[in-house]
Amino acid sequence: MLRSHSWRRSIFTASLPKSHENPLGLPSNNTRIPPQVPRRGPITGGLPSKRRIPNVKHVVLVSSCKGGVGKSTFATNLAVSLSLLPQRLRVGILDLDIFGPSIPTLMGLKGVEEPDLTPDGALIPITNHGIPTMSMSYLLPPSPSTPRTDSEPPTNEDTPVVWRGLMVQKAVQQLLFQTDWSAGVSQGASSGLDVLVVDLPPGTGDIPLSVGQLVDVDSTIIITTPDILSLSDVRRGVAMFRKLDIPLTGLVINNAYFICPNCTERHYLFGANPNDEENMFAKDVQAMRMGVVGELPLVMNVSRGGENGVPYALSARCSAKDTEPGNVWQAAMKNIAVRIWGEIRHKANN
Ligand SMILES: Nc1ncnc2c1ncn2[C@@H]1O[C@H](COP(=O)(O)OP(=O)(O)O)[C@@H](O)[C@H]1O
Ligand SMILES: [Mg+2]
Repeated sequence: MLRSHSWRRSIFTASLPKSHENPLGLPSNNTRIPPQVPRRGPITGGLPSKRRIPNVKHVVLVSSCKGGVGKSTFATNLAVSLSLLPQRLRVGILDLDIFGPSIPTLMGLKGVEEPDLTPDGALIPITNHGIPTMSMSYLLPPSPSTPRTDSEPPTNEDTPVVWRGLMVQKAVQQLLFQTDWSAGVSQGASSGLDVLVVDLPPGTGDIPLSVGQLVDVDSTIIITTPDILSLSDVRRGVAMFRKLDIPLTGLVINNAYFICPNCTERHYLFGANPNDEENMFAKDVQAMRMGVVGELPLVMNVSRGGENGVPYALSARCSAKDTEPGNVWQAAMKNIAVRIWGEIRHKANN
C-alpha cells in the first residue's frame, strides 16, 4: 500500500506550479475520471452534470447554514443511528467543513496518521465505531504551536487551512470523488456504503454550492436551533438548495428544549414552543414550507460524548426511565434516523 510522506508534504505547498489542480497531492497516475471544475456564473447556467459518488448508494447532506448549532454532532450521531437500524446499513461520514473540521474529534479519531492510498491513488477512509470517515483534517501537517508541554509531539489540531476558493473547490472534488468507500468497510459482504453522511460547512459558500452542482444527492437535512436568527440563515440555505434542485428532507431542531432533571418538564429556552400557535418561530417554519423531521433536546452528555469521541447514540440508556433527558434524546435521534432512511427508500422505489 502506497504511504508516501512526499505527497503529504505537498498538500500545503501552494506555490508549486499547478498545485491548485491537485491540492491534496494525490498521485496523478490513476485511471479515475478527473473531477470537473464547476463554472462560475449564475447558479442554473452551464452546470456540469451531477454524478454519484463511487461506491456510495445514497448521499445525505447535513447543512445548518449557521455555525455552532450542532450540525457536526448531529451528523456523527445520524451516521451511528443509521448504522444501528435493523437493516444493518453500512454508513460513512465525509467531513467537508474544510476550514473547521470536527468529525475526527467527534469520532474519536483526533491525531490519527494520514490516510493510506489505494494503488490507483484514492484515499482510504479511517474507521472508528464501525463508521469509515474522511476529513481534510487527516491530511493536515502537524503545527509546531500545538504541544502544551515539551514532551508532547506536535499535532495538526491547530493547523489552519489557508487556501483560496479554487484550491478549496479542487480539494472538495478530490475528497468527494477520490475517496475509496469500498475500502475500510467491515460490515457485510458487498463492498461500499449504503449511506454517506456529508457534514457541510455553515453558509451558502463555494463548498455547498460545489457539492450541490456535482453530486447526486438523496436527502438534505437542515439543522437549526429554535430561534428566529438561526432561521433567517436557514431560509437562505433552503433557497440555495431549492435553486440547485437538491432534495430537502426537512429541518431538525437541535437544542429544541431542555429537560430539567428535577421536574422532567420541557423548557423551551428560546421561547419556541411549537405547540404555541402564536409562536413566531413555528410560523416562520411553516412559511418556509419545510417539514420538521425531529426535535432534539439539549443534553449535557451529548456534548460530553462528542468531546470524548464517542457519539452519544452509541451510549447505553442512562436509566430505565423514559423521561430521563438522555433517553429522550436517544429516542428522538433514533426516530429521525428511521424517518430519513424511510424517505430515502421511498424515493428510491418511486
Ligand atoms: N443536543 C445537544 N445537547 C447538548 N450539546 C449539544 C447538542 N448538540 C450540539 N451540542 C454542542 O454544541 C456545540 C456545537 O456543536 P457542533 O456540532 O460543533 O456545531 P456545528 O457543527 O454546527 O458548528 C458543541 O459543543 C456540541 O457538543
Ligand atoms: Mg461543525
